[in-house]
Amino acid sequence: MSRSPNGLAPVGDDSCGEEESSPETASLFASGAPDFLSGVMPIETAFAIPQIKRMQERSKSKQAGRRPTNTLRETFLDELADIYDAEKQLIKALPKVAEAAEQEDLKRGFQQHLEETEEHVTRLERVFEIFGEEPKSRRCKAMKGLLEEGEEHIEDEDGDAALICAAQKIEHYEIASYGSLVSWARLLGEEDAADVLEETLDEEKATDEKLTSLAESVINVDESQQTTESEESE
Ligand SMILES: [Fe+2]
Ligand SMILES: [Fe+2]
Repeated sequence: MSRSPNGLAPVGDDSCGEEESSPETASLFASGAPDFLSGVMPIETAFAIPQIKRMQERSKSKQAGRRPTNTLRETFLDELADIYDAEKQLIKALPKVAEAAEQEDLKRGFQQHLEETEEHVTRLERVFEIFGEEPKSRRCKAMKGLLEEGEEHIEDEDGDAALICAAQKIEHYEIASYGSLVSWARLLGEEDAADVLEETLDEEKATDEKLTSLAESVINVDESQQTTESEESE
């Protein structure tokens, strides 16, 4: 940022480095303030005028950009494509998670949820059909990240409690997505689609609850094992 002749940044300098002097401003700085400005307004104010104008224009265009560019139907279909991809990522990942689980109940729980997840994909395809669209995937970065964390727990052999926690984070993501989709489908007057999505939403909630009770039993088992081990060492 150029400095004014008195060594100070011109008024309005937000120091973000994104504002460069315009050619006219730069030439004013190079040659000193023109005579016609002296006595009319403070020099700093005169130098700040081009910047203030640019800030006003930027603020106007930001306000214009606040208007949503998508219709609710488009937003719905985008989110549908996101969860369609998320469910498909899960189908690939769940067998490995089930294999990594130590407790039989948890293993079975993951296997059962794999079957449900396959049905979730089929239901999503029905919803696309209701909307007269071909099934479409949009890469779900959130699910990719959540699954990567789960993968780390498996590699580090962190145990069942860590696997349950990773699985619950996934269920909560799905619950948030399906919750929005159900509400939007109703707002769009697509009751059949809303009912199909709600079936899946209920299953995701039930899975989350099952995981909560499994988490409690896993912690109990771990604690009782630790107690037995400490008793044996005495
Ligand atoms: Fe699901
Ligand atoms: Fe799920």
